[in-house]
Amino acid sequence: MIRPIYVYGHTVLRKKAKDISKEEDVKKLASDMFETMYSASGVGLAGPQIGLGKRIFVIDGGAMDEELDGFKKVFINAQILEEEGKEWIFEEGCLSIPQIRGEVSRKPTIKIRYYDENWELHEESFDGIAARIIQHEYDHIEGILFTDYLSPLRKQLLKGKLDKISKGKITADYRVTLPKK
Ligand code: NI
Repeated sequence: MIRPIYVYGHTVLRKKAKDISKEEDVKKLASDMFETMYSASGVGLAGPQIGLGKRIFVIDGGAMDEELDGFKKVFINAQILEEEGKEWIFEEGCLSIPQIRGEVSRKPTIKIRYYDENWELHEESFDGIAARIIQHEYDHIEGILFTDYLSPLRKQLLKGKLDKISKGKITADYRVTLPKK
């Protein structure tokens, strides 16, 4: 089932998300999240983006980079354990912030511990674009948005556009839920 995507201005995007208990039907939830993400042509989607303050995000990097073909995963109750290397810049976007992109600097290598949709525990390292997508989605479950990292000047330039989104003046070619006034 496709869920509407919560956009900039919703408080759920700004809260640290809570762990999911093993009784919850994470398979159904993950399947809805993938369906929602694909319908919006995204490569990642986190719980808060569908209004759910839970520590889950899904990723399928195949549409973004050939090297990421098959990089399709569900991350539940994830914790980033380490981030290292020399920071590199990449232009990011976000389904919750339509039509805005910005350069974000992040470390290239991460180690992360998470459960998959079968409640199997993993501890893995990722680098490059794969790490980048994970870091962006992980930020969502910590209440952080990529625009938080932009330079003061860039933030100033985008302020008007962000205010418009939070007032519901946006166009997106997928279903969104606007912030309440
Ligand atoms: Ni995002």
